[in-house]
Amino acid sequence: MCEVHRSVFTEMAYICQKFQDLTTNDFIAVSSSNIVDKGSTTWRTPSNIALVKYWGKRDPQLPENPSISFTLNNCHTITSLSFEKKSKIDKSFSFKIIFEGEEKPSFQPKILLFFERIVTYVPFIRDYDFVISSENSFPHSSGIASSASGMSAISMCLMQLEKMLNPTISETYFYQKASFLARLGSGSACRSVKGELVVWGEHKEIKGSSDLFGVPFTSEIAEIFKNYQDTVLLVDKGEKQVSSTVGHDLMYGHPFAKCRFEQAYKNISKMKSILEKGAISDFITLVEKEALTLHAMMMTSQPYFILMKPKTLEIIQKIWDYREVKDSNICFTLDAGANVHLLYPKNEKQAVQIFIEEELAVFCQNRHYIHDEVGSGAIELTGL
Ligand code: PMV
Repeated sequence: MCEVHRSVFTEMAYICQKFQDLTTNDFIAVSSSNIVDKGSTTWRTPSNIALVKYWGKRDPQLPENPSISFTLNNCHTITSLSFEKKSKIDKSFSFKIIFEGEEKPSFQPKILLFFERIVTYVPFIRDYDFVISSENSFPHSSGIASSASGMSAISMCLMQLEKMLNPTISETYFYQKASFLARLGSGSACRSVKGELVVWGEHKEIKGSSDLFGVPFTSEIAEIFKNYQDTVLLVDKGEKQVSSTVGHDLMYGHPFAKCRFEQAYKNISKMKSILEKGAISDFITLVEKEALTLHAMMMTSQPYFILMKPKTLEIIQKIWDYREVKDSNICFTLDAGANVHLLYPKNEKQAVQIFIEEELAVFCQNRHYIHDEVGSGAIELTGL
């Protein structure tokens, strides 16, 4: 793009940002100034765990309520994207997927759908033959959702290519658009791009928040919430009983949906204040209530589901007993499945990890759990 257009565009982006209402049109890539024939890029992006949950969406992948999550560190995906200009440019998408060293044609439909959703914003993807190679740090069938880390990783790689084509794009635009693209792959993936705590969904108290992409939570948080720990207790490593697409759809016509969306909105305000003030006991109450509300929504859908297993409940009871007896600040949260995320402040790490090994591992499949902690988002590994 020529300099004049670039500066007009930058100015427009600035004005939009100033009024906090970036629209989808702002994410349409402008025609490139650079010629990039071939290359590759590698990014590592984490999973995340929501404290206030997103459950219910409208087209195209827009949340019915704002959510906030801790970004994880050890549970991550590493994706390398190799690209080479097609010998004859046409309208089709050309890509090969390698997952953990093996070609995976079964992943094609998901990526094809993703490419179809994002092509308006990154039209250059039609011009290349791609090879997408991914690996997860966590076992494939562990019940840990890989879509958040997977979709954010490929989005970072595509943004890196956009940056090679248009080196003048700003850092803010780079990360916001990566989150925007990731959202179109899997909603919660937009919270796996940048920041230790990330808010997705418009909220009047969160500056710059948007339904289109996740934004780092920038308020100063109390010491106790820094370097927070999360041990994922793998109760059920099987495939998800209900896919998130089906789950979100169940919120249409759900008798409690409207009330739930309003509650989540208010819970973001509560969580903001809790994080700022360091109100740990309110944090525990709110986080556990959010997890149980998510499951209550599923238990009261039509059709209804119980996604917890008996061992999930045994773990929850043990956590409650431990908290009372030891005067501890551990608490749990859940995704849309049976695994338990045990959250605790760093200063309890040693004692809690002994408790996990001695009393909780027995409820995990093959005694399997993963110690994780808060991380800060995507990391570029190109050339390393
Ligand atoms: O991103 P999805 O469509 O897989 O939905 C994820 C929803 C929950 O994990 C249950 C909650 C959340 O906010 O992450």
